[in-house]
Amino acid sequence: MYKCFLRFFLHSKLPRAQNIKQFADKFSYLVATLGLFQKFGKYYDLIYREVVDYEGECNFVEKVFKTFCREKPRKILDLGCGTGSHALFLAQRSYEVTGIDVSNVMIERARKNAEEANIKADFLVQDMRTIKLTEKFDCAICMFGGFGYLPTYADLVKLFSSLTRHLKERGLFIFEFWSVGGLKPSPYRTWLKRQDKNSTLYRMTESNFSPETNILTIDMHFIVIHNGKSVDIFEEKHPIRCYTVAEMRHYVNSNNFELLSVYNWDTENKMEFTEPEKDTFRIMAIARSK
Ligand SMILES: C[S@@+](CC[C@H](N)C(=O)[O-])C[C@H]1O[C@@H](n2cnc3c(N)ncnc32)[C@H](O)[C@@H]1O
Repeated sequence: MYKCFLRFFLHSKLPRAQNIKQFADKFSYLVATLGLFQKFGKYYDLIYREVVDYEGECNFVEKVFKTFCREKPRKILDLGCGTGSHALFLAQRSYEVTGIDVSNVMIERARKNAEEANIKADFLVQDMRTIKLTEKFDCAICMFGGFGYLPTYADLVKLFSSLTRHLKERGLFIFEFWSVGGLKPSPYRTWLKRQDKNSTLYRMTESNFSPETNILTIDMHFIVIHNGKSVDIFEEKHPIRCYTVAEMRHYVNSNNFELLSVYNWDTENKMEFTEPEKDTFRIMAIARSK
């Protein structure tokens, strides 16, 4: 395989130092993201159904529709839909929802959740940077940090161009991003415990922020104990790109969209349109295609 990399260096037209740095960044990102959610996906709902108020967040999405849309949207595209929690709450409220996610494990879970709840929604394994669907949507959402998994500006450009092809004219894009201003000092450590029937899951995380790349790397360590025996021990490294509001406004507005508003998503009551503070970490953005 190294011959392949060598050929890449030798035949590239970029200046060598820049070439090596770009390659190293891309390669380390690829290695870091390889297999993301492959194991974590199995326990995702156990962890986050207690943490995320999915129903409340869907109430907020509907409040955004009432505030920013002339007509009620019908077709919604959920980018990085994960196990489908938002998609399923919205589908229950009579929207036609398609969820896409790059992880086959997450999409399998989403399909299973839909089947168990007897709710109709489409779930497809697709990358949000290269969406390939034949229909257009009134609105797209990208909730709970999915947006941060795009590491570079080139990835954002791809996402916005892919969205432009799949949103109707003046379609809304509602997405959460994490703000540099709200970061805790590195290293930042957390742990949690979840109980499910006979199993106990422990997750320890350590997050480190790189000011050079604006990437927050979250090292996650999992231990699952079943009937007193450890049955699953694994690790995942999640690199999340963080932004300032000014940077995000510039990126959105330079890519065929207009940033209409940003809201504080750290608050308990997510249904309020409150302005972000300097130290707000989670920010909900509302953009419209031009
Ligand atoms: C933190 S999870 C959020 C899942 C879901 N939106 C929720 O609120 O529970 C982030 C999701 O984004 C997905 N993702 C990351 N990069 C992606 C990409 N390029 N295209 C599509 N999905 C992506 C991951 O596989 C993961 O399921």
